[in-house]
Amino acid sequence: MGDIKSVDDFNKRIKRVIISEEEIETAIKKVGKQISDSYDGHPILLVSILNGAFVFMADLCRAITVPCEIGFMCAKSYYNGTVSSGVVKITMDLQQDISKYHVIIVEDIIDTGRTLNDVVKLLKTRNPLSLKIVTLLDKPSRREVDLKADISLFTIPNHFVIGYGLDCGEYYRNLPYIAEYIED
Ligand code: IMP
Ligand code: MG
Repeated sequence: MGDIKSVDDFNKRIKRVIISEEEIETAIKKVGKQISDSYDGHPILLVSILNGAFVFMADLCRAITVPCEIGFMCAKSYYNGTVSSGVVKITMDLQQDISKYHVIIVEDIIDTGRTLNDVVKLLKTRNPLSLKIVTLLDKPSRREVDLKADISLFTIPNHFVIGYGLDCGEYYRNLPYIAEYIED
């Protein structure tokens, strides 16, 4: 990706908003209710995959109205720019013993599916009471492994997107909406 040297460079690469703050908020409220209704009374652990899912996790957990705990893992597949390295690394692991919980993985985007597939395989070896996947965005046209989210808030075409936690070269996570990114 091109170097961002000024606020103008930063703004120039935001092509157009594809999902607004309001649309995200409405979808999260609905999913929060759905989760609250289906897990009522059970020990839930929301597991967020850092860094991209931190904003979604913060909003989703506040839309859940039954007791739940949160945990974080760091898994990286994109090291820079918009091209996947094809290598998935768990750089920070969960603290909880997940055999005591119904685990819900909270992910920002499923693209090739490789990152999440590895995370799911790893978590299954730890015998959670159940394991489900909630993703904010899904790009099914790019899938390279057989992986489906249990809940997906928005399906998007094959565009590189930024904002609401998603980055390009670590920038743009702070945008409150999802936008299409202008590549070089
Ligand atoms: P996957 O392993 O190809 O499914 O990619 C997973 C990770 O790549 C996501 O959790 C994101 O961090 C990153 N990623 C994939 N597509 C995009 C995108 O359009 N914008 C920003 N990050 C992306
Ligand atoms: Mg992610």
